[in-house]
Amino acid sequence: MENILSKTCGKIILIGEHSVVYGEPAIAIPFKSTELNVSIQKSKYNIIDCSFFYGKLEESSEDLRGIRFIIEKFLNEYNIKENIKIKIKSSIPNERGMGSSAAASVGVVKALFKYFKINYTTSNIKYWANISEKIVHGNPSGIDINVVLNEKPVFFEKNEDIQIFPINMDGYLVIADTGKKGRTKDAVTDVRKLIDKDDKYKEIIRKMGELTRISKDYIINNDIESLGNVFNKFQSYLEQINVSDEKINKLIKIARENNALGAKLTGGGRGGCIIALASNIGQAKIIANKLRELAASVWISNLKSENL
Ligand code: PMV
Repeated sequence: MENILSKTCGKIILIGEHSVVYGEPAIAIPFKSTELNVSIQKSKYNIIDCSFFYGKLEESSEDLRGIRFIIEKFLNEYNIKENIKIKIKSSIPNERGMGSSAAASVGVVKALFKYFKINYTTSNIKYWANISEKIVHGNPSGIDINVVLNEKPVFFEKNEDIQIFPINMDGYLVIADTGKKGRTKDAVTDVRKLIDKDDKYKEIIRKMGELTRISKDYIINNDIESLGNVFNKFQSYLEQINVSDEKINKLIKIARENNALGAKLTGGGRGGCIIALASNIGQAKIIANKLRELAASVWISNLKSENL
C-alpha cells in the first residue's frame, strides 16, 4: 500500500502577478480541484517516480532539477544513508502558473521530514521549498509557496508577513488552460528589462499595485462586478508589459463575449491559464463550455473560502 505522507494543492493568482515582484501586493487562492500527493518507501537506489520521469534521482530530468537538489541536500544535511523511492502523483498541470513546482517542493520536503521522523516547522518547509523554487524560477516573489503551504487565500507582499485573507464572494471563477507551458522565468526577466529601460513601465507596475489594493476592498465588500472591471484593466496592463499572448487573448475574448464580468491571465503568462469571473453558476457553465472548445482544460470554482 502506498504511504502518502503529504498532500498539497495548486494555486491561482487572482491579481497582482508580475507587479508583486516589485513589492506591490498580490492576492492568491489555493486551487483544491488539483492536488499533489507524495509517498516515500525504502528502495535499493534513490528513485523519483512522477508522471514525466521514472528512474534514479541522479539521472532525473531537467524539469526536476530543483526537487533533485533539495532531496540530495536534505539527505546530506541529516546524514541519511537509507535509499528511498519518492513518488509524486499530481493533477496540477505542469508549468501553467498553477504552482505545480511549489506544490511539489512543499510536498516532497514535508514527506521527507515525516518519513524520517524529523520534527519540523512551517518555516523549515518554507526554507527548503524556497531553495528549489529559486533554482526553477530565478528570484520568485514567494507567493506560490505561501499559498500552497497555508492552503488559504492570501494577501501577499514580498518581505511582509503573509495575511490570510478569507474570501466570501457570491460568484464563480472559471479557469481555462491554454495547453501551452507558461514561461514565467523568461517573462519576469523581460519585464525587468522593460522597467530598466523606460520609466513608463515603472508607472504601469505602480498602477497594477493600486488595482490589487482596490480589489482587496471589492472582495471584502462582495462587489464582484467591480472586481471584474479591475480584472479587465489589470489584463490590459499585463498586455502592455508584454506577458500575454495570442491564445491567452483568444480565451479572454471568448470569456468576455459570454458575459464574464472580467477576465485576465493568471501567473507568469506567455502560455499558462486564464481566469474569468461569473456572477452565477449558470453563467459560469456557459463560459466554461465555450472555453472548452479551445482550451486544454477548464475548471469552475466558487469564491467562498470554505471551498477554496
Ligand atoms: O507562473 P507562476 O504561477 O509561477 O506565477 C508567477 C508570478 C509572478 O508574479 C510572475 C512571478 C513571481 O515570482 O511572483
